[in-house]
Amino acid sequence: MPRKLAAGNWKMNGTGESLAEIDRLAAALPKAEAEVAVLICPPATLLERMSARLTHSAIATGGQDCHFDESGAHTGDVSAAMLLDAGATHVILGHSERRNDHGETNSDVRSKARTAIAAGLHVVICVGETEAERDAANTLDIIQGQLAGSVPDLVTGENLVIAYEPVWAIGTGKVPSMAQIGEVHDFIRASLERRFGAGVGRSVPLLYGGSVKPANAQEIFAVHNVDGALVGGASLKAADFLPIVEALAAA
Ligand code: PGA
Repeated sequence: MPRKLAAGNWKMNGTGESLAEIDRLAAALPKAEAEVAVLICPPATLLERMSARLTHSAIATGGQDCHFDESGAHTGDVSAAMLLDAGATHVILGHSERRNDHGETNSDVRSKARTAIAAGLHVVICVGETEAERDAANTLDIIQGQLAGSVPDLVTGENLVIAYEPVWAIGTGKVPSMAQIGEVHDFIRASLERRFGAGVGRSVPLLYGGSVKPANAQEIFAVHNVDGALVGGASLKAADFLPIVEALAAA
């Protein structure tokens, strides 16, 4: 069984003041730590400060993106080595907001994942269909194409996490039915097992993301092959994120 993972994605939210939320989270978490790994991915400007604050805690930190080159002339970008240097252990790659806002393709995500893994980061690769793709009954084809195109060959059960995030469920308050989540998670598990073998395929944590809240977390974590969540809005406040971590620990 993969280790359960509760991951927070702060997106473009948070300044120094928001670190008080991390202190609250760290103070409250020792209870859940044994069963659940907890990861927070703040904006790059907060990564080093947040990581320093969490030195004596089991909460890990991660970046929200990195470049596929190791270094060089890429104004505004952040490299995998910079994330590691700032204390990160993970990086989110291929989030739909990156794919939409910055035109990232599957092959970009794959290159980034290669570089990040080579640098020693764990990669959280995001996949998910749009509403139009779901309405056209293309969900599983889209997911398969994203997995095949975005996940590099060199992954192990240790350095890969997959997040299934239906684009239409992100930040909208809309959540798929539990049957829909289960169908996609089972499909992703089977696809990883086919490609990487049962051992690796079974040990990759599969996160659901998209409008996860304290009120729906328990139901979502009861779905087969859901090993955790990638949480946006509800990860910004410890009071919202903690009950989600606790629901995962109890699942
Ligand atoms: P949300 O975002 O929880 O605010 O819907 C999830 C995500 O984009 O990772």
